[in-house]
Amino acid sequence: MATLRLGDTAPDFIQESSIGVIGFHSWLGNSWGILFSHPADFTPVCTTELGVTAKLADEFKKRNVKVIALSVDSVSSHLGWIKDINETQSTVVNFPILEDADRKVSVLYDLIHPNASTTNTVRSVHVIDPSKKIRLILTYPASTGRNFHEILRVIDSLQLTEYHSVATPANWKDGDDVVILPSITDPDELLSKFPKGFRSIKPYLRFTPQPNK
Ligand code: BEZ
Repeated sequence: MATLRLGDTAPDFIQESSIGVIGFHSWLGNSWGILFSHPADFTPVCTTELGVTAKLADEFKKRNVKVIALSVDSVSSHLGWIKDINETQSTVVNFPILEDADRKVSVLYDLIHPNASTTNTVRSVHVIDPSKKIRLILTYPASTGRNFHEILRVIDSLQLTEYHSVATPANWKDGDDVVILPSITDPDELLSKFPKGFRSIKPYLRFTPQPNK
């Protein structure tokens, strides 16, 4: 399987999970999806990551995002670990964790990087849109926990830029001004798409209030 790239269709699979067998595409339905892998169950950084993700359930739901985790450990290991996460992180893990002892999903999504670890999955995130296209791929080292507010921020940007002719600048967060796509130059189109007006700093650098606010 070639390396996955942005815009590729997210590979479908059927795999066991902590909530039973999951057919990935049909489980996603019309939602956005986040598939995130972690190196192993019963490890400290992963425990905090899954706890934070569980606590952000309402934020994911608001954005129509379904979350699913994965490691190469078994379902019985996941179920034991979920109890620990709930206890130590004061939350309830409310999303499935895929098992991947047979490496089926790890191979499809290139989640084992042999120079990092020959046995464990890396810390990757795949964001998938409702048409099942991959929109973001992130890979972190085992020693660094991910920032799940950053993942929500990217989803906000993806969902905004999908429907408006804008892009989001560095460190943008929901509600901040955005930049107008350089391809939009027709004055009538600018007026109709950006009725709140815009500031032009350079012809290619034009800021406008976030259109959907
Ligand atoms: C962790 O999740 O804490 C972890 C996992 C693998 C290697 C190092 C840390």
